Amino acid sequence: MKSLNNYILIGFMGVGKSTIMRLLSKETKLFGLDSDDLIESFEQQKIKDIFQTKGEDYFRECEERVSKWLSQNVSNTIIAAGGGFFMTKYFNEIGTVIYLKSSFEAILNRISKDELTKRPLLKDIEKAKDLFEKREKEYKKKADFTIDIENKNPKEVVLEIVNKLKLF
Ligand code: S3P
Repeated sequence: MKSLNNYILIGFMGVGKSTIMRLLSKETKLFGLDSDDLIESFEQQKIKDIFQTKGEDYFRECEERVSKWLSQNVSNTIIAAGGGFFMTKYFNEIGTVIYLKSSFEAILNRISKDELTKRPLLKDIEKAKDLFEKREKEYKKKADFTIDIENKNPKEVVLEIVNKLKLF
C-alpha cells in the first residue's frame, strides 16, 4: 500500500539524506520532513542525548511512533529517514523508497568532525563499518530506486532523482 505519494530517502548515516530532502523539496514543491528532527522536537532532546540518557531501545520506540504517524497521516512529502528507520513496522507503507548509496570511505571523507559527534553509532569506526556492511544489504532490499551519490554534488543527485521519478 504505497498510495500516499511520499518519497522516503534511506541510506547510511552521513550520506546526505537531509540535504537531499531539502533540495528535493524545493525542486518539487513537495513538503519535506526528517524523522530525526521529528523525534528531537517531540522529545525536546538531541538524538545523541536521547541515546545517552534513555538508550537506543527508547530511540527505536520513538522511530516506531514516527513511522506509524507518517503512514497514517502524511502524503505528498519527501521524508529523510534516519539510518535505522527502515526497520520500523510501518516503513513499507509510507512511500516510494529511494536508497542513497555510497561507500563507507566516501561517507567518512564527506562528514565533518562535528557531524561525527552527533551520531552515537559512528563513535567507534570499526563497529560503524560492520554496521555499514550489514545495513547495505538491507537498504538494497528495501529500495525501489538506488541512486549512487559518490562523486556527485547534491544538485546532481537531486536532478537524477527528479529525472528518474519524473518528479516535475
Ligand atoms: C541511526 C542514524 C541516525 C539517527 C540515529 C541512529 C542509525 O540518523 O537516526 O543516530 O541507526 O543508522 P542519520 O542516518 O540521519 O544520521
